[in-house]
Amino acid sequence: MPSTTSSPPTMTHSTISPAVLYWGTPVVLITTLNPDGTSNIGPMSSAFWIGNRCILGLGTSSQTTQNLLRTGECVLNLASDDMADAVNGLSHTTGTKSVPEYKLQRGYRYVKDKWAAARLTPQNSTKVAPLRIQDCQVQMEAAFRGTYEMLGGAVQVIEVEVLQTHVDEALRLPGHANRVDPDAWRPMIMSFQHLYGLRSGKVAPSTLAKIDEEQYRM
Ligand SMILES: Cc1cc2nc3c(=O)[nH]c(=O)nc-3n(C[C@H](O)[C@H](O)[C@H](O)COP(=O)(O)O)c2cc1C
Repeated sequence: MPSTTSSPPTMTHSTISPAVLYWGTPVVLITTLNPDGTSNIGPMSSAFWIGNRCILGLGTSSQTTQNLLRTGECVLNLASDDMADAVNGLSHTTGTKSVPEYKLQRGYRYVKDKWAAARLTPQNSTKVAPLRIQDCQVQMEAAFRGTYEMLGGAVQVIEVEVLQTHVDEALRLPGHANRVDPDAWRPMIMSFQHLYGLRSGKVAPSTLAKIDEEQYRM
């Protein structure tokens, strides 16, 4: 029997059936090229990262998905926790002219110029055609690498490769050419449709962080 020095926490679990499992993920503003050459902005948060790849969960009918599958390019602009006005300005909008019925029922409307709706400023990219969002401290230019259909084709799980990463100087870890200071980066987190930031400072030293970041480079 292992010895314990403190008593176990008192938790009472009960079974629930959540409609969504949005436990908290960063908000990404994806820019993609519309057929007319303008750049669309699609806010999303079903995103995670492996090496230099990102996996995105996107509704198939979204303009972002259609543009990404057609052109093979996007920019992943990360929202920081002071960008609620921009995220809310993009909420309930789509760049798809013919708004799908399920979106109409949720109050979505077609917006041609997402930049004006969110009061965001465009900036040229270096490796892909869609514009970057100048207001975002992190911008990753990326290329389509593969897709997997989910839920009978309603959702696409899309893999993209990050080709070029741009970060605001304020986020760089002093003394390192390629590192971000996690104490400086304040991502916006979407949890069960609400917008959060990370609380200030680390909760505890991380054992994982003993691994040199360069060992993850692919
Ligand atoms: C904070 C936030 C997070 C969202 N997360 C996702 C997501 O992870 N996947 C998704 O398909 N839609 C997500 N949406 C809804 C899309 O933004 C919505 O489908 C929108 O119409 C996409 O724009 P587009 O059609 O111009 O691409 C999210 C919206 C907001 C505001």
